[in-house]
Amino acid sequence: MESITPFFANNKKIVPVIALPELDMALPLADTLAACGFTILEITLRTPCALDAIRQIARERPAIKVGAGTVKNVAQLQAAEDAGAQFIVSPGLDLAMVSKARSAKLPLVPGIMTATELMQAENEGIPVVKLFPATLAGGTDFIDAMKPVFPGMLFFPTGGINEESAAEFLARENVLCIGGSWLTPARLMQQRDWPKIHEVASRC
Ligand code: 3PG
Repeated sequence: MESITPFFANNKKIVPVIALPELDMALPLADTLAACGFTILEITLRTPCALDAIRQIARERPAIKVGAGTVKNVAQLQAAEDAGAQFIVSPGLDLAMVSKARSAKLPLVPGIMTATELMQAENEGIPVVKLFPATLAGGTDFIDAMKPVFPGMLFFPTGGINEESAAEFLARENVLCIGGSWLTPARLMQQRDWPKIHEVASRC
């Protein structure tokens, strides 16, 4: 399985998770976030314009790595790949998706929240998992407890993380990066308030 680890070599370890309301917001939002140093973006397949937004960012902003989030089946994974997604994030672990991602050489970060799912991920050779929903699943206590049991596993926690709790997660050696929607509040996107989003994102 390909890993997203190299993406973070020279990058901020925070991935904005974006449920984009309208397609015309894609480039201004991506530019705003990139100006604050966020060049790895996750667009969730939760809004109708998500795939077109991925396509547009992938084509027109080659310096940005854009991935698809909330990918729940092989068909969605294929559609995300076709749109130009460079990585795939899923709320759960689906073996058909793992196999598809492997043959497509596309990094897949599956969601887990138990040791059993971590065992499956490890046995599938998956290098990075999404702890989801991170705060409900035990947050940093869970990540610390799993470290001696799964010493090679890296976590990409998302779900309930915010500006205040980000540092606590990022301080862990086995946390590759974190994700969250707090950088792109729905209200500010709806208002197309890019300066305010710039202000929020600049604090991280
Ligand atoms: C997601 O996939 O939606 C992420 O977990 C984002 O969660 P958040 O909205 O709580 O940051």
